[in-house]
Amino acid sequence: MSRAPMPYSQKILELFRNPKNLGRMDDATVSAVAGNPACGDMITFYLKVTEDEVIEKATFESYGCAANIATSSMLTEKVKGMKLEDAWKISWKNLVDEVGGLPTVKFHCGVLAIGALRRAIRAYYKDRQAAPEWLPGELTFEEKQALEEEELAKVLSKRMKTTEDGV
Ligand code: FES
Repeated sequence: MSRAPMPYSQKILELFRNPKNLGRMDDATVSAVAGNPACGDMITFYLKVTEDEVIEKATFESYGCAANIATSSMLTEKVKGMKLEDAWKISWKNLVDEVGGLPTVKFHCGVLAIGALRRAIRAYYKDRQAAPEWLPGELTFEEKQALEEEELAKVLSKRMKTTEDGV
């Protein structure tokens, strides 16, 4: 029996077929890997940042679904030319609206894109041992949903073990 296709917006389908800014960035200032514990998918976000903390270029690599590729593509376009502080304020709800909405079961794919961006921004300041006032000390919801590679592997292997043990 085949599964019913996801009711994606036209915009999502377009971005999925022709994603912008897809690929590794060799001269990135900072990058961050983020994996979603809900589905096990991972993305990497790359940012090239100027001395004035403006995002000159953003790219991504995704091992995620159509919704993740579309939201990441939209996000990399949106943050170009933005100050890090303004890029930080973009919420996953803004992003979901901009791609014409997402089925509820796919919200986490947009959350993953924002989480990866925020992880990259946080890494930028961590590398410089800086802590601007606007950057929250605690991880935000989106960052918590976008685990680092190692954390994701732990969660997934624990889950597999639980399934194998039949618990
Ligand atoms: S289902 Fe994993 S990112 Fe969309």
